[in-house]
Amino acid sequence: MSSNSSTALLPAVDAPFYRAVGDEVEVFRAAARRGLPVLLKGPTGCGKTRFVEAMAHELGRELITAAGHEDMTSADLVGRFLLKGGETVWVDGPLTRAVREGAICYLDEVVEARQDTTVVIHPLADHRRELPIDRLATTLRAAPGFQLVISYNPGYQSVLKSLKESTRQRFIAIELGFPPAETEIDVVAHEAGIDIGAASELVTLGNAIRTLDGSPLREVASTRLLILAGGLIGEGLSLRAAVQSAIVQTLSDDADVVRALGELVDAVVSRP
Ligand SMILES: Nc1ncnc2c1ncn2[C@@H]1O[C@H](COP(=O)(O)OP(=O)(O)O)[C@@H](O)[C@H]1O
Ligand SMILES: [Mg+2]
Repeated sequence: MSSNSSTALLPAVDAPFYRAVGDEVEVFRAAARRGLPVLLKGPTGCGKTRFVEAMAHELGRELITAAGHEDMTSADLVGRFLLKGGETVWVDGPLTRAVREGAICYLDEVVEARQDTTVVIHPLADHRRELPIDRLATTLRAAPGFQLVISYNPGYQSVLKSLKESTRQRFIAIELGFPPAETEIDVVAHEAGIDIGAASELVTLGNAIRTLDGSPLREVASTRLLILAGGLIGEGLSLRAAVQSAIVQTLSDDADVVRALGELVDAVVSRP
């Protein structure tokens, strides 16, 4: 890389590929104009992250993402003092950076984190748009353009319990589900680089798994899994081999469930 390259010379980044499922794009645009925080609800692999990427690109905002995990603390979001060459220096966390820079801050599955972690977002989620940083004895006002987006999987998380009622009511909630078949076929074909016929078989199978009666599965076959299977097909595997490795074995370790899914594949899939 030459050291004299400037941003003006960098090629424009293509818009992330995103197919709208409902009115989520219009709702997000409206929320963004008002600087309102957004709560994205939906199962894993349904397109939440891709949607935020597409919106950030459209709005011309930087996207700063932090993925929630069990051991996450508020310092992971806000920042901490670190020892550097014998000196203690403050290092901004992703939330603080987004607040300073007016970026979209996407807290992906932040509810996985402990309760004290989510408390720091409360004053950012209302009209104050403030981030108190105790350790610096200061409070930052969010720069224009700052927007908080958090994701939540209603299937197995309970953010709505761990967020205070008063905070929760300041979020615009957008529910994202798996796209209708036509759209999902388009998405799978595009992302995996396979033909519509193969994508269509995968989506039919995905929907059969999603609507299984009394399903023992914790998570169903997501769009992401269908794309993974599509990727194997794109690499020359047969549809069945791809489905076995990317979907059946991924969804369950239980021999009975694996057998039942195999039977479903036989019933639904026509290609070898
Ligand atoms: N509506 C959509 N438009 C375009 N791609 C999609 C859409 N929904 C899902 N995808 C694809 O599925 C993959 C998984 O989606 P992702 O955004 O990572 O899911 P989530 O964040 O909800 O777990 C994405 O990388 C993208 O390839
Ligand atoms: Mg995601």
